[in-house]
Amino acid sequence: MRATRRRARVVRVTVHSAVSVITTKRDGGELSDAQIDWVVDAFTRGEVADEQMSALAMAIVWRGMTRRETARWTAAMLASGQRLDFRDLPRPTVDKHSTGGVGDKITLPLSPLVAACGAAVPQLSGRGLGHTGGTLDKLEAIPGWQADIPVPRMRELLADPGIGAVVCAAGADLAPADKRLYALRDVTGTVESIPLIASSIMSKKIAEGTGALVLDVKVGRGAFLKQLDQARELATAMVELGTDAGVRTVALLTAMDTPLGCTAGNALEVAESLDVLAGGGPADVVELTLTLAREMLTQAGIDDIDPADALADGRAMDHWRAMVSAQGGDPDAELPSARHTETLRATASGTLTRLDAYDVGIAAWRLGAGRARQGDPVQPGAGIEMHAKPGDSVRAGQPLLTLHTDTPETFPAALAALSDAFTIADTEFTPPPLVLGRIQP
Ligand code: URA
Repeated sequence: MRATRRRARVVRVTVHSAVSVITTKRDGGELSDAQIDWVVDAFTRGEVADEQMSALAMAIVWRGMTRRETARWTAAMLASGQRLDFRDLPRPTVDKHSTGGVGDKITLPLSPLVAACGAAVPQLSGRGLGHTGGTLDKLEAIPGWQADIPVPRMRELLADPGIGAVVCAAGADLAPADKRLYALRDVTGTVESIPLIASSIMSKKIAEGTGALVLDVKVGRGAFLKQLDQARELATAMVELGTDAGVRTVALLTAMDTPLGCTAGNALEVAESLDVLAGGGPADVVELTLTLAREMLTQAGIDDIDPADALADGRAMDHWRAMVSAQGGDPDAELPSARHTETLRATASGTLTRLDAYDVGIAAWRLGAGRARQGDPVQPGAGIEMHAKPGDSVRAGQPLLTLHTDTPETFPAALAALSDAFTIADTEFTPPPLVLGRIQP
């Protein structure tokens, strides 16, 4: 009998461990594609522990990631969940994402305006954390309005020519790795990393299935990036990630040293957005809404409609009303208001030369407009009304800010946050431009 000798097949298995991924990055090395795919997937499955992912996030904060690593990290986050696809809709899809600022209610007038001009706007939004408000918190101030919309219903609303826009919460299956990682970064001091921020935002935006995207990257005291060069770096990274993933992406860098508009707080900002949709509203909110609408329409390939017309003739308001009703809200319902107010008055006569966005954001948050921890409730009526904007003349003793809350015990803390929030000077002051730059692929 002839013995058959079989050659043992050598199977090469690459075994990753969380510790080796962490130490590679800790020591300044570049993570391989396989390491990134493995660590994000294993973290999503619960095989990599929270403390290990936190250590890796801290190593990334210090060592950074290359363009290749950032792209692969984003792809791995995207692959952790579902990617929506709206390419079969009869109109082009386009969305806007803001990195967050004080008084930033632009999504509210912008989404129905762009829908009124013929594009579909699928916007998955978030709730606020800290001093910047969240779009869902603002819309939830409208009685009956629902943030949770199943994907088939979202598709119906986007396809409806009388609606065309949906602003809703991201489902649990949309970039779930980011959801877990962001919660960890939030409590481990690891939010401030450009590759991590870019991949976090873009994995969610790519997953929502939009064909085009306009990014509003905020810069200044009330933004989480304070310097123009940092904001430019983040915007460039996000534009590259979007473009590489097949999403037509541009970014505007916009000023956030002073709050946008004259309100910061949920119902207060809805009311101000209604003023804009009715053809009025503060000049800066109108300017940014129209600038972003023009960018979105260009990215969507719609270049024969001026959004200013759709705002002036009431088409945007019609879309707003239809969009609110379709999500269970009553567009005619009275908005909630806070039970207590307190007025802060001008301390001198002159020109208001500074109204600090960060201080106003912190004060609104302390009054109950924002939350300290994920899942905390917010007060729909809480916030701050601003009676003057930088560049305006004021008289000593005139109301400058009105503070609104249901919990008057928060007034002292809010007033403390505002103790150095403004400057009144005996000089002329022209507010700086709102749009500071534009980044395209
Ligand atoms: N917003 C996000 O979605 N992710 C970040 O990392 C920062 C802001």
